[in-house]
Amino acid sequence: MDRKGTDWSRKTKYLDQAEGMTLNIPIEDLNQRESSELDGLAARIAAMDPWRRLGYAPERIAVYLRNPEQDARRLAIIVEGVIAGVICLKYPWMRGVCIEMLAVLPSMQGLGLGARALDHVEREYRGRTRNIWLLVSAFNERALGFYQARGFKQIGEIKDFLVEGEDEILMRKVIRPIESHFLGRSE
Ligand SMILES: CC(C)(COP(=O)(O)OP(=O)(O)OC[C@H]1O[C@@H](n2cnc3c(N)ncnc32)[C@H](O)[C@@H]1OP(=O)(O)O)[C@@H](O)C(=O)NCCC(=O)NCCS
Repeated sequence: MDRKGTDWSRKTKYLDQAEGMTLNIPIEDLNQRESSELDGLAARIAAMDPWRRLGYAPERIAVYLRNPEQDARRLAIIVEGVIAGVICLKYPWMRGVCIEMLAVLPSMQGLGLGARALDHVEREYRGRTRNIWLLVSAFNERALGFYQARGFKQIGEIKDFLVEGEDEILMRKVIRPIESHFLGRSE
């Protein structure tokens, strides 16, 4: 349940639903999935960069996936009944929504799932908030290019953010202009 009272665990959404073309790529709450599947997923994410290079333990990722904080969502991208990727969100976060984790498993990369997941976030939050935020490791050139191609701009570099010697880049996509009557809004 998020702060607006939406019970996401009861909803099935489709990544392309808003365009009126359901491609049968549901996204659903990770808590709907079997515990053993989450452990396997965490191990596969830990074996992928950037998490591998940053030294994340599979157990730590499993705890992260299982225990969302308040105002956070952990969503699975499902292809033919199997988890193909995850997108984890925090909202509200600095007048926007923060993509804390986006991971498409290696065998499913390059098929458009990551792009669809970003489009989904943008559609869902455009009317609610102003920014989409995320951090990307400076060494993760593919992801940097991927986000830039989808309208994200580099805002700044955070030195030694997670690990000594590894920098993170803060990226932002503005999805709604500042409103002149902004003062007094609760967001
Ligand atoms: C980065 C990631 C999320 C992208 O997801 P994906 O499903 O593989 O990407 P898509 O298939 O949706 O690619 C979408 C588009 O990005 C483009 N793209 C990919 N890499 C690119 C790059 N380096 N520069 C420019 N465009 C790029 C693709 O060509 C494609 O363009 P198109 O839609 O015009 O054909 C995925 O590869 C991944 O999980 N990587 C490992 C984990 C990671 O780095 N996550 C991000 C952490 S911040």
